[in-house]
Amino acid sequence: MAEYIKVANLSELAPGSAKTVQVNGLEIALFNVNGTIYATDNTCLHQGGPLGEGVLEGEVVTCPWHMWEYNVRTGEKVGETEYRIPTFQVKVEGNDIKVSL
Ligand code: FES
Repeated sequence: MAEYIKVANLSELAPGSAKTVQVNGLEIALFNVNGTIYATDNTCLHQGGPLGEGVLEGEVVTCPWHMWEYNVRTGEKVGETEYRIPTFQVKVEGNDIKVSL
């Protein structure tokens, strides 16, 4: 069974917002899409921009460096689905956001 690690408090991630957390040496981006939490690798496939600092609109985050867009649910780059960032399973228990790495 997958092990879930607490990475953040739900109260710190309002709907429509994103944030970056460090877990076991990895940088993970968290997104709150209308109350559903998604987790992806934080690193943009273009030049390594921090996706957790990007702008979230619906399921799409825009990289703050050069505006590549990714669907945070699937990890796919919008319009070029051969580019895909890793995504992680998320579980919310009370105020705890937990991620399976
Ligand atoms: S580093 Fe993300 S778009 Fe360039």
